[in-house]
Amino acid sequence: MQLLSVASEIFPLIKTGGLADVVGALPAALALEGINVRSLIPGYPGVMGALDAAEALHQDADFFGGPARLVAANAMGLELLVLDAPHLYARKGNPYTGPDGKDWPDNGIRFAALSRMAANIGQGLLPDWVPEVIHLHDWQAALTAAYLVYDGKARPGTAITIHNLAFQGQFPPALLPQIGLPPQAMSLDGIEYYGSIGYLKAGLRFADRITTVSPTYAGEILSPEFGMGFDGLLRGREGLVSGILNGVDDLQWNPATDRLIAARFDRTSIQDRPANKLALQQRFGLNPDARAPLFAVVSRLTWQKGMDLLLAAVPVLLAAGAQLAVLGSGEPWIEAGLRSAAFANPGRVGCILGYDEAGAHLLQAGTDALLVPSRFEPCGLTQLCALRYGAIPVVARVGGLSDTVIDANPMALAAGAATGVQFQPPSSAMLEAAIRRTVALYRNEAVWQGMQRAAMATDVSWRIPAKHYAELFRGIAAKAG
Ligand code: ADP
Ligand code: GLC
Repeated sequence: MQLLSVASEIFPLIKTGGLADVVGALPAALALEGINVRSLIPGYPGVMGALDAAEALHQDADFFGGPARLVAANAMGLELLVLDAPHLYARKGNPYTGPDGKDWPDNGIRFAALSRMAANIGQGLLPDWVPEVIHLHDWQAALTAAYLVYDGKARPGTAITIHNLAFQGQFPPALLPQIGLPPQAMSLDGIEYYGSIGYLKAGLRFADRITTVSPTYAGEILSPEFGMGFDGLLRGREGLVSGILNGVDDLQWNPATDRLIAARFDRTSIQDRPANKLALQQRFGLNPDARAPLFAVVSRLTWQKGMDLLLAAVPVLLAAGAQLAVLGSGEPWIEAGLRSAAFANPGRVGCILGYDEAGAHLLQAGTDALLVPSRFEPCGLTQLCALRYGAIPVVARVGGLSDTVIDANPMALAAGAATGVQFQPPSSAMLEAAIRRTVALYRNEAVWQGMQRAAMATDVSWRIPAKHYAELFRGIAAKAG
């Protein structure tokens, strides 16, 4: 089976969050299920620079306001189709924002172009390779489903995966002629969303199937509390919505072979792990104290991630004799709060503001516990990495966090099944209680090591999720064909 995956990010070429990890890891996992994936992505400078032996398959002198090429290339084991349109993508900054941190003013055009190209490929632009299914990721790819429906030509099946309902891609109605959709598309039953053009809305309205990245989030988004304005539409298509848990690339994230950590270990050699704790404490300017419970965070520093709850809980964490290491970047007021917490508590709170892939690996290998106090979390990947590295996740019981961590309640502990600590609702009081509970568990060495072993025995790979995706795609292809 041939599948086109369409996204705005792909690890290791271009990443701002977990979306890139998923888009980068799924193709290899699906290959084992007999699905050949080609990934369509924009030709940002970082992507163009990484391509070897690129071959132009198609050229267009005027594609959304400038010349464009569709280029086939392999990079880092990925089979890529790259939309090389310098007027849209050859810019410094990240995929969505310029160096000033503001959204690119033409994002509506940039991602309509990506989606238009995906639809063209679905309609046979490349005669040697016509996908049976197109897999759309988030709003940046979502318009593909609308193009295919409004064009009314023979088309492949489509599935859209929601990685985060908070990012919806809304643009002014005046854009409609420029993106090449007919006037009748601008209706409640089409792509209109509260007076704007809704890109994600288009995907949710027209894709054949809708998935999100955990079963619990798939249920949550049907409610007004988590639906972010889409719960009505999603309830109307409820039978087509499902949740498939994310995995992590278990070659890249393997404590037994990881070259980015200080000491390698596995489930049978957890005693070798503490060398990583020491290295982590050094890296974050913390006191080199093997017995102090060490909590860590690696995250975007945003409201979604509950980072303000964490700031409020710092005094309780310190009163419990613990240390805190934070790696991340995000909203200025959270960054400032962390900086002053580190300044006020030298040796006990350390933060590194920025993006550091190697730092993330050392953090998972060295920390005792990983805090994820998210207000909502479609899946979350850092708690999966934590499990694999024997770091105990302390998580809010929402979305994918509730599906992936087994709380250390008395029954789970007695059964040897507990892998972490959950709390709810996401508030600083509940987070503080969870921190105290975690420290108590940590102080009981036998219990803690039992949890570490159970955590490391958890299968967080793509093997099982890939089977679910394969089944979904085959179902879609059978219907479309
Ligand atoms: P989200 O996509 O909502 O940000 P996820 O948990 O799904 O959250 O994915 C986040 C990914 O980004 C993980 O792979 C995590 O390790 C990585 N990450 C986040 N912040 C940083 C950082 N400052 N440095 C390195 N990696 C980071
Ligand atoms: C989003 C979500 C996160 C999820 C990731 C990959 O960024 O916030 O929960 O793990 O996408 O699916």
